[in-house]
Amino acid sequence: MTETVLEVKNLCKTFIKDGVETEAVRNVSFELSAGEILGVAGESGSGKSTLSRLCMGLLRPDSGEIYVCGEKLGKSSIKNLRPKIQMVFQNPADTFNPAYSVGSGLIGAGRDLGLEKQECREKISELLKTTGLAESVLKRRPKELSGGQLQRLAIVRALLCGPRVLIADEAVSSLDVSVSANIINLLSDLRESLGIAILFISHDLAVIGHISDRVGVMYKGELVEIGDTEKVLGSPKHEYTKRLLDARL
Ligand SMILES: Nc1ncnc2c1ncn2[C@@H]1O[C@H](COP(=O)(O)OP(=O)(O)OP(=O)(O)O)[C@@H](O)[C@H]1O
Ligand SMILES: [Mg+2]
Repeated sequence: MTETVLEVKNLCKTFIKDGVETEAVRNVSFELSAGEILGVAGESGSGKSTLSRLCMGLLRPDSGEIYVCGEKLGKSSIKNLRPKIQMVFQNPADTFNPAYSVGSGLIGAGRDLGLEKQECREKISELLKTTGLAESVLKRRPKELSGGQLQRLAIVRALLCGPRVLIADEAVSSLDVSVSANIINLLSDLRESLGIAILFISHDLAVIGHISDRVGVMYKGELVEIGDTEKVLGSPKHEYTKRLLDARL
């Protein structure tokens, strides 16, 4: 039986700003298995990033539960669970402090996650090879690197402590098409070689269709449809998914 590495149950999050309530995530439930890629699609404002921040423990839900590798995510467990679930963001430049070399940024990140300095160095070297980067990039500052190189380094950073789940929130959206395709292939390879599960969030259905085993569609905070990629994109059940697919043509 495949292990469930991320389970979300009846998750709800409402924001109140200037007296206006936004139900950003409404009663969302799903499971992610080890080594599975689940794509999450949906228009801007549908709650995708709120969902990812909740899963990372960066936001607290109003109600509902999140389990990472079977353990409930909460105040007391977050430190233990942090190495198991990591995230790659849209803008790779935000991942690293502009004042320092990316090498020292990576060592700092590894140390924060409880790795010894030497362990960090060895892990970084290994992951540079996995992600197709030369050791020489480590001496550079973020502004001396391309968006594609930086996103690979952000992936190195996310993988330092051997997570079981990687959340990629619009991780290729700021990159041009060929660089984006390379990063998508890299994520696919990582799933194969490391057995890591990926929650792949994107507004781009073509990209989602290419990389995902299953697809979930969010609409106004709700997960309105979830299923195998061919089924959801080939014969969508929900009206909104149909509209999303039509808009792509
Ligand atoms: N901190 C916040 N305070 C108030 N409202 C928020 C906050 N964060 C998100 N929202 C609102 O919650 C809703 C969902 O936002 P979210 O960022 O999750 O959408 P998204 O699907 O990631 O959109 P995009 O595709 O543009 O990234 C939006 O209406 C947004 O304005
Ligand atoms: Mg977002």
